[in-house]
Amino acid sequence: MEIKITKTTAPKAKPTDESKLGFGKIFTDHMFLMDYSEERGWYDPRIVPYGPIALDPASSVLHYGTEIFEGMKAYRNENGDITMFRPMENIRRMNNSAERLCLPQLDEEFALKALDTLVALEKDWVPHSEGTSLYLRPFMYGADPHLGVHKVHSATFVIIYSPVGAYYAEGLNPVKIIIEDEDVRAVRGGTGYAKCGGNYAASLRAGARAEAKGYTQVLWLDGVERKYVEEVGSMNVMFKVAGKIVTPALTGSVLPGITRKSCIELLRGWGYVVEERLFSIDELLAAAKDGTLEEAWGTGTAAVVSPIGKLCYKDAEYTVTGGKIGSLTQKLYDELTAIQWGKADDKLGWCHKVI
Ligand code: COI
Repeated sequence: MEIKITKTTAPKAKPTDESKLGFGKIFTDHMFLMDYSEERGWYDPRIVPYGPIALDPASSVLHYGTEIFEGMKAYRNENGDITMFRPMENIRRMNNSAERLCLPQLDEEFALKALDTLVALEKDWVPHSEGTSLYLRPFMYGADPHLGVHKVHSATFVIIYSPVGAYYAEGLNPVKIIIEDEDVRAVRGGTGYAKCGGNYAASLRAGARAEAKGYTQVLWLDGVERKYVEEVGSMNVMFKVAGKIVTPALTGSVLPGITRKSCIELLRGWGYVVEERLFSIDELLAAAKDGTLEEAWGTGTAAVVSPIGKLCYKDAEYTVTGGKIGSLTQKLYDELTAIQWGKADDKLGWCHKVI
């Protein structure tokens, strides 16, 4: 399929102060759209000026939350190349999310072509400063104008881009995380492993409570026993306990993060034992109390590698690594971002060159 491109006649001014980018507040000049119907399959792939999308008020997504998305990044390398990090992993995960929500499958190669074409068109929007990137947000929603609760027969796939800096206001300073023991994000058999808007909607109440108490985000426990650590609001989580790395296993209610997977591969490559297993809150707190919890950090596309400096559970606060970034967390951040920004050898073939 050919992608039809209609360029804007009113390009926006690009941000001049990249230190103030923040996350997801400004958007580039164009977006990609493509429609799906059961009769036609995917059709009419097009790039058009960024702007509002018309939706029938009865659209499935507005009533039943038939929406999935991905978070990816494009980086400006020192040699002038623009690259993406493991984009096929995101595209495959999007198809897994689509399967869970009965949305149509994407042709993986075509989805990559759409991402590439839009990045090439928006190349001047990829920021230059260290720590910045172009955040890529592909998403898909059910478009059936029908109030019956059923699998959708029509959908739209959209891609928008946003130049970003750090996800957290803290930057690379450690975040404060509160362990949520009331609300749950997901249960096994539910949609926890899918990247769907509904998972994030379910997380907002606890997130707002955490913020009101001065915490950055919540650490979720499993939805059945509220006993096992799962993930943080916008990232997977890892702990260094007595020299070994422990991270919650992908039980079905945890998002299979691509940064998580990449960090595990780097850590194992450095000789660390990485245990993907059930990790109980009791075990975590015991390690925090007896000093064997050496480091804690989150991993995610938006958050990259983000140190955790404080954990709070039932009003008791535990300081991790003296409230500072741990040396392994720093090493992971440095290595991962060096690969992403083309400063380190891409030995594992993770970078995809766009232009
Ligand atoms: C990402 O890391 O890209 C995410 O999707 C997390 C979030 C901003 C929802």
